[in-house]
Amino acid sequence: MTANPVRILFIASEVESLAKTGGLADVAKSLPLALKEHGQDVRIIMPFYKTLKRHDEAEKLFDLRLHTNHDDIEYSVYRLMLEDVPVYLIQQHAYFERDQLYSEGEFAYDDNGERFSFFSRAVFQVAEALDFKPDIFHCNDWHTALIPYLLKQKYAHHPFFCNSKSVLTIHNAAFQGIFEKHQFHLLEGLADGLVDQILDGYNCLNLLKAGIRYADKINAVSPNYAQELLTRLGSHGLCDYFEQRRADLVGILNGCDYSDWDPATDHLLPTNYSSSDLSGKAVCRHTLQVKTNLAQIDVPIFGMVCRLTEQKGFYLLLPALQQFLRHNVQVVIVGTGDSGIVGELEALEKQWPDKLRFIHAYSNELAHLVEAGADFFLMPSLFEPCGLNQMYSLAYATLPIVRGVGGLKDTVVDYDEDPSQATGHIFYDPEPADLLNILRRALLLYLEHPEEFQAMRHRAMKSRFHWQESVWQYEALYNEALNVSPVQQP
Ligand code: GLC
Repeated sequence: MTANPVRILFIASEVESLAKTGGLADVAKSLPLALKEHGQDVRIIMPFYKTLKRHDEAEKLFDLRLHTNHDDIEYSVYRLMLEDVPVYLIQQHAYFERDQLYSEGEFAYDDNGERFSFFSRAVFQVAEALDFKPDIFHCNDWHTALIPYLLKQKYAHHPFFCNSKSVLTIHNAAFQGIFEKHQFHLLEGLADGLVDQILDGYNCLNLLKAGIRYADKINAVSPNYAQELLTRLGSHGLCDYFEQRRADLVGILNGCDYSDWDPATDHLLPTNYSSSDLSGKAVCRHTLQVKTNLAQIDVPIFGMVCRLTEQKGFYLLLPALQQFLRHNVQVVIVGTGDSGIVGELEALEKQWPDKLRFIHAYSNELAHLVEAGADFFLMPSLFEPCGLNQMYSLAYATLPIVRGVGGLKDTVVDYDEDPSQATGHIFYDPEPADLLNILRRALLLYLEHPEEFQAMRHRAMKSRFHWQESVWQYEALYNEALNVSPVQQP
């Protein structure tokens, strides 16, 4: 426990068990809970979406009004609890009472810049109304990246906020929040005085650039991704901006939530298993084959669960699978997303109906079953800031086959590089032929060296990425931002 808790306002656009589109939500739940458990005074603030789960449990606290040069915007603040962490919800009908979080189908809402600049301004008002003076505004990705800018430009001399600092966590720098300047009228002229560094082209603001420039500290969600952000190839065009903040940029690996992802206790599985007895895994495997209507035969199963986006490497995977499916294997892919990828997967499935199953769905239950029932797990990502599924796969003795980028490289040990420590397979060049090659090597290992394969499974299950480790590193980062000398960790 901590003698002097840091007051942290954790600001996120999505939080697991309330609203989720991706891995950001997992972290926005697990990290605040872990910080709280370690004695910090952490509170979450997010938009109150129409689709928010546990909608009915939210308790209304008060109404507020945001003054702007044009008109006033009325909104309400609600609260619910995520275990013992308060979550403040900003309800504003015109902005958040919509069917989705950020987009309708594949089209982003065309006022996202305005929606999230409203949210960012409201965050300050709500904190003051709650009399919660944050030591740290912990921001996440572009949706909240205006906050460091507002803190430095608008609130630098404000009696309530003048001692607050900001930390920006980068979960995915490919999404930068680039919007035309006119969307920022709620900033009351602040956007006009913006320095060139945070513009994109002549007429657009790049919110992530604003966060990078003005946050007191920045972290990426893995050490390797932090390094990549300093390179031309891996920074999504932002390396010059990150270079300027090199001294304040670190990588902190996400933890894995083993309370949800432990095959020994997972209630979504037909049966449980652990490293001392893997027999339950065979049952999960059988159930996976039955549920996906694949033959119940003894061939290796390669699983994949993800958003269907280019980032996840489909343009390497689709041509590689054309060849790989000639072998005696089964492949199960689960996900929703890009309609082009959906079409290609459906066409490939028609060609290989006995070997490939594509389930066009977002299903937590099926995600758990694939993690448990498959023998290998595919993540051929073009880039992957941290990645969570490879951590789940390791815990479930399902050997990950990953591209050596971002957090994938930080969490998987490659069989060819270090057979005695290996937990999976890594390929590097973003070429279908390289992916095909690694898939075949994994298959060979399975067929020809079953004892090695079993040893890798046991080693994989021992890999552990505890949130506690990350919490120590975040606390050190907060202390640096606050200029407090770091506390010795055990
Ligand atoms: C984003 C990244 C993913 C990361 C997650 C949580 O979804 O794409 O790699 O694990 O954020 O930080």
